[in-house]
Amino acid sequence: MILVTGGAGFIGSNFVLDWLAAGGEGVVNLDKLTYAGNLENLRSLEGNSRHVFVQGDIGDQQLVRQLLARHRPRAVLNFAAESHVDRSIHAPGTFIETNVVGTFRLLEAVRAYWGELKGGEREGFRLLHVSTDEVYGSLAPKDPAFTEQNKYEPNSPYSASKAASDHLVRAYHHTYGLPVLTTNCSNNYGPYHFPEKLIPLMIVNALAGKPLPVYGDGQQIRDWLYVGDHCSAIRRVLEAGRLGETYNIGGWNEKPNLEIVQTVCNLLDELKPRAGGGSYREQITFVTDRPGHDRRYAIDARKIERELGWKPAETFETGIRKTVRWYLEHGDWVQRVQSGAYREWMNTNYAARAA
Ligand code: NAD
Ligand code: DAU
Repeated sequence: MILVTGGAGFIGSNFVLDWLAAGGEGVVNLDKLTYAGNLENLRSLEGNSRHVFVQGDIGDQQLVRQLLARHRPRAVLNFAAESHVDRSIHAPGTFIETNVVGTFRLLEAVRAYWGELKGGEREGFRLLHVSTDEVYGSLAPKDPAFTEQNKYEPNSPYSASKAASDHLVRAYHHTYGLPVLTTNCSNNYGPYHFPEKLIPLMIVNALAGKPLPVYGDGQQIRDWLYVGDHCSAIRRVLEAGRLGETYNIGGWNEKPNLEIVQTVCNLLDELKPRAGGGSYREQITFVTDRPGHDRRYAIDARKIERELGWKPAETFETGIRKTVRWYLEHGDWVQRVQSGAYREWMNTNYAARAA
């Protein structure tokens, strides 16, 4: 078995689905089912005995120790986190609880389990911690892309909490010898992406005839990677990554936000033209910027390519087309995730932003 945490979220559910489809070992999936966790993402696994879902908190050390003792996984992959920068600005507390304290408690439970393993089981065991490029801070326009040697300079409560978790993971390797691997990935997009994040929000709002809220001047740059490529990179790092190392993961796809939104509009104009005519671009609205908004992220992914031979399979053009099609074909999923809590968040984040 492997133990995956946060496997009902966007990347975690894509990972679990891909892993089982590729014939990997069984998965114990531990997820708290916060607003971002959605068992519907895993519906195709209903009745599949290779997937065991457990609702619970990574910070519940007793539960994690029980799961480890019962299932004896050969690896733990930690996807569980609070992941939305805007939410971390409105309410940072849960980010500290899950991303910092939760990761610490998970590390303690894993350390105790690993400490009792013997021989091949001990040798082969891995803890893979899934992290983000945001820990490196913000780049100026001409700065080289982030390498694994960049200083940590997190700027939001979210990225600071992820940076803290990365430091703890590193310290558990250095101090206790825990066999860890850390990945720092750029912005993902693809199926099951919760529509509070840029790309799915723009698709969903466009189709609903709502404004497309671009923060500030829309010239902030992100480096986009199709989620399936992130999952294949994680599989590769788990398989062959060097213990204690960190691997940056990215798709060499730097793009300003406004261009992303325009691309989404162009694809929707082609695949689902507006009933009343005109382009979805007419719905673009510039709104008050995110406080402390990082200007540019870019990943130098040469280490993972050189050491592990990993490269993304999708270009941005193929990945974004697949993604827009997925949202058009999954209207029911979109409708169901737009619960009362979702509408409340939309109000909290956007009502006070001047257009
Ligand atoms: P997400 O918010 O979609 O999903 C997070 C999942 O974790 C949810 O299912 C949630 O229920 C679960 N969870 C939250 N707190 C928990 C807790 N205390 N115990 C157990 N489960 C808990 O996030 P995502 O976008 O899928 O990101 C997954 C991981 O990848 C995160 O660690 C994030 O920092 C990292 N990451 C995300 C991106 C991205 O672009 N989305 C890029 C790089 C790295
Ligand atoms: O870089 C990796 C990170 O990417 C992950 O660690 C995070 O978990 C993930 O949420 C993502 O963070 P971002 O803040 O970059 O993603 P988000 O989709 O929230 O925003 C992308 C860009 O779009 C960012 O510059 C802010 C902008 N934006 C976002 C929203 C939601 C807008 O202009 N309007 C919006 O309504």
